[in-house]
Amino acid sequence: MIKENEFVYVANIDELKEKVGKKVFAGDDEVALFKVNGKIYALGNICPHQHASIIFQGFIEESCVVCPAHGWEFNLETGKRKFGNKGLETCEVLLKGKKIFVRTKTKNSMW
Ligand code: FES
Repeated sequence: MIKENEFVYVANIDELKEKVGKKVFAGDDEVALFKVNGKIYALGNICPHQHASIIFQGFIEESCVVCPAHGWEFNLETGKRKFGNKGLETCEVLLKGKKIFVRTKTKNSMW
């Protein structure tokens, strides 16, 4: 059974620079936050290629975040790769004033 997690406060929007990632934690889950064109995206921070905690250091190209290690690209909205499987999970984002909250999908099992 899939258990929905609660929204968790992770950062203030002023802490984010445009197209520069930030690693945060939602409970035990590592999340990579990005602000692109003013919109907030939250994805799993562990790259599925070599299970490295590195996605927050990725760079933004068009609608994707590119892993800095070997260049795998993940869509910011869906977490999916253009080709192949092994995408990133995405989190729901809730903005209350300047406070960013995220909700991961299933406790301790999304990355
Ligand atoms: S670790 Fe991310 S592409 Fe290799």
